[in-house]
Formats: sequence, C-alpha cells, structure tokens
Amino acid sequence: MTDGDLEKAAGLVRRARRVLVITGAGVSAESGIPTFRDAQQGLWANFDPQQLASPEGFARDPALVWQWYADRLATIEQTEPNAGHRALAALEQRVPDFLLLTQNVDGLHQRAGSRNVHEIHGSIRRVRCAETGRVYAEGEVPIVPPFPVRTPEGRLARPDVVWFGELIHMPAHRAVEDFLRAAMPDLLLLVGTTALFPYIQQWAWQAASHGSAVIEINPEPSVLAEICDVVLEMRAGKALPELVSEPV
Ligand code: APR
Repeated sequence: MTDGDLEKAAGLVRRARRVLVITGAGVSAESGIPTFRDAQQGLWANFDPQQLASPEGFARDPALVWQWYADRLATIEQTEPNAGHRALAALEQRVPDFLLLTQNVDGLHQRAGSRNVHEIHGSIRRVRCAETGRVYAEGEVPIVPPFPVRTPEGRLARPDVVWFGELIHMPAHRAVEDFLRAAMPDLLLLVGTTALFPYIQQWAWQAASHGSAVIEINPEPSVLAEICDVVLEMRAGKALPELVSEPV
C-alpha cells in the first residue's frame, strides 16, 4: 500500500453516485464482536461452533444452541457501532443509490444509522419458528430462558440466522441481484471480509468486469484483492472515516 492509495480511494468514493458495499466480520472487529472462533472461550471452550451453528446440532440439543446464541447476543448488546459503521451510514446519506450487503448478524450497521441493509446470513436478534418457518419481528419473541425459546404459539423457535449447510437468506441475495441488474454501481466497497463465499466473489467479479471501481479495506487482503483498483491494508474503523469525510 502506498501513500497515494488512500487519496485515490477517497477520489473514487467522492465521485461515486451508485455504491454497493459488502461487509464481513472485520467491520465489527473494532466494536469487540468476537468471531465464531474467538467466541469459544470459557464455558464454550469445549464446543465446536460448527456443531452449535448447524441444523444437526440444533436437532441434537436445542436448549444448548439457544444458550450459546443468547450468550452471543448478550455480548453483542454490550457493544456499540464503531467509526467504520458510522462512516458507511454517512456515505449512504450522501449518495443517491446505496445498498449494503452484510454477512454479519449483529445489527450494528442498522444501529449506526444505515438504512438499506441486507443481511445475507440473517440476524441474531430475530427469531423464527423451527416448524413453520414464520419469521417474527425483532423483539416480538424475547430471547430469554427457559431455553429453548418457543414462539407465542408454543412451537420450537430458532435463531433467524443461516447455519452451516443451510441456504443463504434469499431476499438479501435477490436485493443485490436486483441492484446490479438495474445498473452497475460506480463503486464496490469490500470491507472486512475474507470473501470466501462464491456469491460474494461472483458479485465482485461482475461489478469489476462491468467497470465498477472496486476498493478493498482489510489489513489482510482477501482473494479479491487482485481485481481491486485500490486495496487499503487498514482497519475499517480508520480507513472508512478517512474515505468518507467531506472534502476540504
Ligand atoms: N478492519 C477490516 N477488516 C478486518 C479487521 C478490521 N479492523 N479485522 C479483521 N479484518 C478482516 C480479516 O482480515 C478477515 O479478512 O476481516 C475478515 C474477517 O474474516 P471472517 O471472520 O472469515 O469473516 P467473513 O468474511 O465475514 O466470514 C463470512 O463466515 O464464519 C462465517 O458466518 C460467518 O458471516 C461469517 C462468514
């Protein structure tokens, strides 16, 4: 990364009118949200996250899985959006067309003020019926003991998140597809994601090959770095405010 990279990226952000942002766990790192692996401390040290966050694990012991999610939710609720989340919310106010696709389930983008947010892995703050699939609005079903959580109708509930081996949240997928189909963005911002999922790579490739500028913000560049116009090897909470601040 050179000194000119930040300036070049800031210019691309300043000129953009139609922006697609894709975020991953890295954007919430500075808020102190542990990744799956970091979260396996203390009580949970002996449990495999892939077992807890899977349909099989839930079938085996729904109360245990709920306890784990309730712990994660409690941690998330003690955190605050960071400067990176806030800068993205500010960017949305400035550009006419904006869509934010996040792989995070923590709700921090919305708490920072982002509006057009789509959660492709669901939300830890929502509950859905494990039997009928009905999704309840945030807060409608309290996530409190005794576990497992049940719906108001007395059915088994589950967190409205995408587990290992499950299909991604299709409305979020469709929102990005529709956004790209309507017109290619001037700018794609990739923030804090390893970009290992094929749909993320496909969208990035599609945008880049149709002329969108692509900026990656990640201290450890992802596999998509080679199709980026600029890679900022920086923390999101440092880079994003610098990119989005009003030109002097
Ligand atoms: N700023 C920007 N990027 C950061 C920061 C930071 N402060 N700290 C870490 N990163 C980067 C890491 O270098 C890494 O590339 O964030 C990325 C985090 O990677 P993952 O934990 O794999 O997160 P993500 O890409 O969102 O993973 C996708 O995989 O584990 C599942 O469901 C989980 O949604 C998650 C999905």
